[in-house]
Amino acid sequence: MIGRMENEYFFKIVMIGDSGVGKSCLLTRYAEDEFNESYTATIGVDFRSKILTVDNNFVKLQIWDTAGQERFKAITTTYYRNSDAIILVFDKNSHDSFRHINDWMKEINDHGFENVVKMMIGNKVDLGNDVSKEEAEDKARSFGIEYVETSAKNSYQVDLAFINIARQLI
Ligand code: GTP
Ligand code: MG
Repeated sequence: MIGRMENEYFFKIVMIGDSGVGKSCLLTRYAEDEFNESYTATIGVDFRSKILTVDNNFVKLQIWDTAGQERFKAITTTYYRNSDAIILVFDKNSHDSFRHINDWMKEINDHGFENVVKMMIGNKVDLGNDVSKEEAEDKARSFGIEYVETSAKNSYQVDLAFINIARQLI
């Protein structure tokens, strides 16, 4: 028997992180269950919606995918406004993108969104783990946020990452 649904929620989530870490691929994997090997840089911002059920709650997520390229920063930061959660993405095989998580976190704080729910994703685990799980977990812990490792390519833990953030919001 299907239990009675408890509540309906709507949340806006913004994904940020260096160019090329796989933000758009994560969203395409999650929303359409597709993956594209070729890289098309996001211009400005883009979004997808997805409805899921979490613990008997209907949750509609509106997920904003921002451009990682520096030249779009002025536009993308305006999208932090009114967001319920921000996902910081880095590439498990790029120490630069991992180090830059600090800068992205500073960007969030500079724009006055310290209190928004945040989460960190280490993507492309199918390619390797140059940035170890331990150092990534340490950083997430230092920020007091959750950390999930994913592969947009083989779907590893992509659903889990979004369910996890929805669960923190309801
Ligand atoms: P910007 O839009 O410039 O900010 O980049 P992005 O973070 O949206 O990166 P995008 O999703 O476009 O992915 C960049 C490249 O990495 C593409 O060639 C993808 O195919 C590849 N890629 C993304 N996720 C994965 C993954 O999990 N595994 C592997 N092997 N490749 C991935
Ligand atoms: Mg993109």
